[in-house]
Amino acid sequence: MTTKRVAVRAPGKVNLTLAVGPVGADGYHPLATTFMALDLYEDVVATAAAGLSLVYTDGPVDASGLDTGEANLAIRAARLLAEATGHPAEAALEITKRVPIAGGMGGGSADAAATLVACDALWETNLTAEDLRALGAKLGSDVPFAMCGGVAVGTGRGDELTSALAEGRFEWVLRFSDEGMSTPATYRALDEHRDKHAASLGPIHEPEVPEVVLTALRGGDVRALADLLENDLQAPALRLRPDLAEVLEFGETHGALAGIVSGSGPTLAFLAEDAAAADALHRAFLADGHRALRASGPTAGALAH
Ligand code: C5P
Repeated sequence: MTTKRVAVRAPGKVNLTLAVGPVGADGYHPLATTFMALDLYEDVVATAAAGLSLVYTDGPVDASGLDTGEANLAIRAARLLAEATGHPAEAALEITKRVPIAGGMGGGSADAAATLVACDALWETNLTAEDLRALGAKLGSDVPFAMCGGVAVGTGRGDELTSALAEGRFEWVLRFSDEGMSTPATYRALDEHRDKHAASLGPIHEPEVPEVVLTALRGGDVRALADLLENDLQAPALRLRPDLAEVLEFGETHGALAGIVSGSGPTLAFLAEDAAAADALHRAFLADGHRALRASGPTAGALAH
């Protein structure tokens, strides 16, 4: 019997560390990053249909402003898989968004990852996990991680992954902005700052993930991890969005062990000691009129379902 409907979920992520090297000739920056997948999922349902289409359901995140045409990352994912396998690009895609849009949490990448996995099953094209990850990397640097999930070190553009061990669960509060940020603009702001201050900054180091970060994760040591959260894109994101600085301060004075800009921003991720502290911080944000969500990680990627 042929498959008629496949449902796949893929997680959003937070970068626990994100070290950015000097921009290369291809316009990309070499990265060394530690990803953690969070239990904030994008759900993609692919149904057999004539032609390729996409709708967003009325979910927790308002996706009404998003393009559902050929520029959409999920549509591009389905087209890429069709091209790679010779299968006709035929599926009706339905996505429920829970990861904020243009927030630095990899929501679009999760859509692409889940679409690749769902269409591969719907079309019975049966690619290997490795082939799906390679296709994903063509769509965006964070797509392979949305497939793998868990905790991983990403190098290259962030798409070359090595899984890492983590003990226990880490409790987070995510604070969203109404206005998204452009990833290229945040990288550009970093480059401009580095160019301007080249003399005092000296050579930019080869990006790496400090060993102590992996030790803290393996030991489930949330306090040590909180001290080690670091993001080279945080300073440029704060220059583009100075309002975020006082929100970081608010979180840290209302119970977070540490707060950080997530990826290229503007979502802020706050790590709490335990679930009770995270719940209290979440309530404090809501009471102060912010949009915030509770999440925990690590959690599984799209390929694990
Ligand atoms: O790969 P992705 O589509 O997510 O990247 C979006 C943009 O972010 C790129 O066009 C580039 O400007 C910037 N980027 C970068 N270095 C990376 C990843 C992304 O400069 N390693």
